[in-house]
Amino acid sequence: MEIKTVAPDVELTGATLIVGVMTDREPAPGSGEVMAGVDSAFLDVAKFEGKPGQVLALPHEHAAALLLAGVGDEASFDSVRSAVGNAIRAVKTTRAVTTLNQVPIEGATRAVVEGAMLGGYEYREYKTNGEAGAVVTVELVDAEETEIRDAVIGAEVTNLARDWVNTPALDLAPATLAARIAAAAEDAAVSCQVWDPEQIREAALGALLGVAAGSERSPSLVVLEYQPAEPKGHLGLVGKGITFDSGGLSIKTAPFMEEMKDDMSGAAAVAAATIGIARLGLPIRVTAVMPLTDNAVGGNATRPGDVLRPMTGPTIEVLNTDAEGRLVLADGLGVVRRYQPDLIVDVATLTGAARVALGDAIAAVFGSNSEVAARVLAAASRAGEHFWELPLFKEYRKQLDSDIADIKNISASRYGGAIAAAVFLAEYAGDGPWAHLDIAGPARARETTGEQVKGASGFGVRTLIELAKGMAESV
Ligand code: BES
Ligand code: MN
Ligand code: ZN
Repeated sequence: MEIKTVAPDVELTGATLIVGVMTDREPAPGSGEVMAGVDSAFLDVAKFEGKPGQVLALPHEHAAALLLAGVGDEASFDSVRSAVGNAIRAVKTTRAVTTLNQVPIEGATRAVVEGAMLGGYEYREYKTNGEAGAVVTVELVDAEETEIRDAVIGAEVTNLARDWVNTPALDLAPATLAARIAAAAEDAAVSCQVWDPEQIREAALGALLGVAAGSERSPSLVVLEYQPAEPKGHLGLVGKGITFDSGGLSIKTAPFMEEMKDDMSGAAAVAAATIGIARLGLPIRVTAVMPLTDNAVGGNATRPGDVLRPMTGPTIEVLNTDAEGRLVLADGLGVVRRYQPDLIVDVATLTGAARVALGDAIAAVFGSNSEVAARVLAAASRAGEHFWELPLFKEYRKQLDSDIADIKNISASRYGGAIAAAVFLAEYAGDGPWAHLDIAGPARARETTGEQVKGASGFGVRTLIELAKGMAESV
């Protein structure tokens, strides 16, 4: 999909004109005249009121079609992005033209670009037949080129993460994902190291190796580095990269295993965000570490009761092999700490408990202090992603006491599982500023609506990019 700016007198022949309509059929600011020519009888028949999610195609004097997109009660970044997402999928021509970027709100151009590119996303890799979406070009009337370019980068890297996560585990072994990340990094001039099993053993990443032990496919660890000329800060990222989570010997039941190709969403998010930050040329150094492995059930699999030795930090008694994310993150955090970043952020589809607590639309954020969590929340709100802070409640640490090792990987309590996992990770995150993002809920979109397309969401990518922007501005 190509996005460009055009003059107000652009030729509409063959194009679909997308306009925004507010609740009660009020024209969205910037699209007033178009509505004046619309016969309200058409709107009555279609019960079109301008509510969020409503889209109505009508004939137009000059264009191939006029598409009314319901924005709802308030024009905001979210409502405009969502309206464009819904509209883009209803376009039957290869060209779409819109003035929705002229709605007088902060980031209107970006909302339109994200709505079109994220809402128009399709994963067609394994579809033999069937039609692809029609739209090839989206033309924004009188938009800033630089705003378009930056928004396109954010949307492209989000869709890159979606592609990786949507890929079936069969075709995405740890080494394959590492190679795909390396190829994307190379295009963006981000340096990339891929550690093979030998290097992982030399570095003594015993927790990652323990998770990998049950799989025939060997683990990889990817380190991406983006080094701008005059960095204003250094962001360290760690992403959970479980290429398939069967649960290991503590095997999952079939319904819970269905979606576990998603379990590398954290790794995909940090890789895509690093590439986005580099392509945007933000003055923040980024070091991103992605431990990649299956969690499988082979004859050599780690058993409940086994003890693992991560690179640094407490030895771990594994009582449930399905709590594997925190194990690979322990080693990922150990590796990123060697680079001494100013702030460490890890991203992981870590616990079903986070999803139980916050649902499918909201991720949990934990901060080593409230200022760190506030920075993530501010970045998320600029990105239009939903997070909620949960407490890093240190009193729960004793529920992780092990009889024979320094810590165990599951809590003695059945409750508060997302917090227990965060308290576990705190043991490996060091003493500096650190945030933990548990994206188990929103990593996957369960329906197609607005800028969301059923399947991998690319959640977290744009929040991490905004976080880097925030770091650049705060110094
Ligand atoms: N990958 C899962 C968490 C998950 C669940 C992600 C649902 C997305 C959707 C993780 O490795 C896991 O299995 N966690 C266990 C931890 C438990 C054994 C302490 C869980 O949440 O049940
Ligand atoms: Mn698991
Ligand atoms: Zn997992």
